[in-house]
Amino acid sequence: MSRDYRFPDRFLWGAATSAYQIEGSPLADGAGPSIWQRFSHTAGNVVNNDTGDVATDHYHRYAADVDLMSELGLTSYRFSINWGRILPQGTGKVNAAGLAFYDKLIDALLAKNIAPMVTLYHWDLPEALDARGGWLNRDIANWFAEYADVCYRAFDDRVPRWVTLNEPWVVTNDGYVIGAHAPGHRDFREAPIVSHNLLRAHGSAVQAYRATGKHEIGLVVNLEPKYAASDSAADIAATARADAYMNRQYLDPVFRGEYPAELTEAFGDMWPEFPATDWPLIQTPFDFLGINYYSRNVVRDAPSEHPLRAARVRQSQNVHTEMDWEVFPEALTRVLVWIKERYGNRPMYITENGAAFDDPELATDGVIDDPLRVWYYREHLRAAHDAIAQGVDLRGYFAWSLLDNFEWAQGYAKRFGLVRVDFDTLERTLKSSARFYAEVIRSHGAVLAGA
Ligand code: FCB
Repeated sequence: MSRDYRFPDRFLWGAATSAYQIEGSPLADGAGPSIWQRFSHTAGNVVNNDTGDVATDHYHRYAADVDLMSELGLTSYRFSINWGRILPQGTGKVNAAGLAFYDKLIDALLAKNIAPMVTLYHWDLPEALDARGGWLNRDIANWFAEYADVCYRAFDDRVPRWVTLNEPWVVTNDGYVIGAHAPGHRDFREAPIVSHNLLRAHGSAVQAYRATGKHEIGLVVNLEPKYAASDSAADIAATARADAYMNRQYLDPVFRGEYPAELTEAFGDMWPEFPATDWPLIQTPFDFLGINYYSRNVVRDAPSEHPLRAARVRQSQNVHTEMDWEVFPEALTRVLVWIKERYGNRPMYITENGAAFDDPELATDGVIDDPLRVWYYREHLRAAHDAIAQGVDLRGYFAWSLLDNFEWAQGYAKRFGLVRVDFDTLERTLKSSARFYAEVIRSHGAVLAGA
């Protein structure tokens, strides 16, 4: 007998995007520039020197994009607000035209019964705040709470779910350690300072929410289960360090009030002294956890590298996406169950999951055929269902991404969309994965039982 893959009645079916990746017109209507504006306009940082100047032009096409979401049957949509549209200098003067854009977007979603999930920070820090030290400056916790409060007052009447930060690990690691993302620093010593300030900013925004907001607020982390390449003591220790750095660095502080020992030991004398009074702020209770899951990582010790930088052992027997990320759906079940066991059974959403594959350029019968992406979604949705069957309180799933978009340092070269975007004409075309996802939504998961 085939397994029943129906999801709980109130399960949310969504897709996710972020502001800089889709909106375009980053300086329109009084917006202040972000660190991604400067970074992408500096030659050599992004493949093909692509920028977010036009992106998918969602800033002008949002209404048609909401119609597409409705056609797919989405019940929720996760997007982010560009801080610099709201506060061009990062703090201080509010830009009414920036608020007006998100106001129209939210109303368009509600008119189609699509519940907004709003991320406050998806990596586009106002340039004016970077000039004041950005995430290295402790004051950022107050700057972020000020911005968040403006958003809550404008939109909480219509927004049932908020997210403080998207993927603090990537902000720290890619932005300040390896320099692949804005602001492009390359200094391991900055990592604990940035991470700690991200956690303080998260806590401050949650506290501000309790003062004005009436709904729910959460944190989104990216998790990548680490598997040891062998049972040697060195590989097992390297795997534990990699896991501490990526998977426990933010969750242990917010839920247990401490940093993982492997992390502080790896920094040794370079681990800063943080005021004890930061902890109640960091541990401020919040309502749900969002998990972004794409892949796992098989780890081998790399003695010549920084202790947190293990070697990756590529599993060539398995399919890899165009990002060279191994497709490994069962690790999604594993990571959700791990959270339940380590941190308690918290309300969770899969806030991102998806794959970049090379798609055919031409449609067949009006649809772009992307069988690998269909397969990726089917297997990961089954894995998500397995976690529910094991008692995980999973409340929704958001595909990454609604549209092909600006994939950060990879520019437009990597396509993650359910919907194809032609970057010359900006025309949108559904992919078979969009059709498949629409069927999943319509059947509440039942079609996942098929082959
Ligand atoms: C995540 C990001 C998202 C997108 C996907 C592929 O790390 O949150 O913006 O780039 O990866």
